[in-house]
Amino acid sequence: MKLSQKIATSLFIITISSAHAQDQISQLCATPPMGWNSWNFFEQRVSDKLLREISEAMVANGMKNAGYEYIIIDDHWTQGRDKKNRLVADSIRFPNGIKAVADYVHSKGLKLGIYSDAAQFTCGGVTGSLGFEELDAKTFAEWGIDYLKYDYCNAPEDVTTAFTRYKKMGDALKSTGRPIVYSICEWGQRKPWLWAKAAGGNLWRTTWDLRDVWQSNNKELTGIMEVFDQQEGIAQYAGPCGWNDPDMLMVGLYGKGASSNAGNGGKGCSEEEYKSNFALWCMLASPLIVNSDLRNIATQSLQLLTNKDLIAINQDKLGKQAITIYKKDSLQVLKKELSNGNIALCILNRSSTTKTGTFNTGKDLNVFKPYTMVKAIFQNKTQKIKTRITYTLRAHECEVYRFSN
Ligand code: GLA
Repeated sequence: MKLSQKIATSLFIITISSAHAQDQISQLCATPPMGWNSWNFFEQRVSDKLLREISEAMVANGMKNAGYEYIIIDDHWTQGRDKKNRLVADSIRFPNGIKAVADYVHSKGLKLGIYSDAAQFTCGGVTGSLGFEELDAKTFAEWGIDYLKYDYCNAPEDVTTAFTRYKKMGDALKSTGRPIVYSICEWGQRKPWLWAKAAGGNLWRTTWDLRDVWQSNNKELTGIMEVFDQQEGIAQYAGPCGWNDPDMLMVGLYGKGASSNAGNGGKGCSEEEYKSNFALWCMLASPLIVNSDLRNIATQSLQLLTNKDLIAINQDKLGKQAITIYKKDSLQVLKKELSNGNIALCILNRSSTTKTGTFNTGKDLNVFKPYTMVKAIFQNKTQKIKTRITYTLRAHECEVYRFSN
């Protein structure tokens, strides 16, 4: 082959592979991201050893097969910058640096996420990325990072600055050419559903941190019901590649998280409440990011987190966030449109006592033909569609029904 032909061939390959990378970037998070994050359970204890063990557990316990993919390092991984201003991992907890962790996580068929902040310091008070966005994005890409959670502690309140700072990092991530999911975390304070996608975000937190409690009735601490209620009215902003994020799942924590535990005296939630946490997050097309210690996860938590039918609803290609179609006497019904004309309905008992009753699917819930089958997912029962759904739900319990042809 002549030199000119060789050059033309290489240029062609470079153009094709960069077009491929651009395609991958523009299609990131076509369905809500699924994974694990170190924050609520481990906080400052996140380490190389822990991340390897969590990755192994995720493969061994079936979560990877169920669709969980990202292992996300949250706050407190860095000890500052080196002489060239590159971020450096804590030398005790990450003796081999972050790239070694990324290589290990990738060898398990999983992806690695990391955390920084749009200010000089993170929420935990360690080094953030302000003023170093391009260098940090480049460093993350070189390490093999696949996901960045970008926090907003110690940053100005106004939305213009928030947008500018988030876009700066969003652009920096894109210009690395590596597909890196961009998770915006300003806690819903500046209505990020209106601008986060334009800043390059693939998901954006919609509320303050979720706590391991059903309902806190305390403005400072948001429980499952408070966070859930705040998803109302913003469904239209969620869709493929850009998701409302009502924060991480409490399933399996049982009050053992540190900051997530605040306000509940260490008890955590009941089994029904964890079931509802998971089912509602699936209905809402929310990111499914688990926090508990996967090395010692309770059987019932694992069963819940790997429920195939609920995950299929969460990961449905249409990418619709559920909306409320009925709310009365502590009963709430949500509806999520699914691909192939299927729908999912979730009946939630918000009261603290058992509720029994019947809905007429047509008159009360607007579910008419052409559906022929309905599966009650927690009961694991599929039946020919009837005109009535009879439910018995314990306190804070829900059931999810999938209607199909
Ligand atoms: C904020 C975020 C949390 C977590 C902590 C870490 O509170 O909302 O999810 O990342 O910071 O300090």
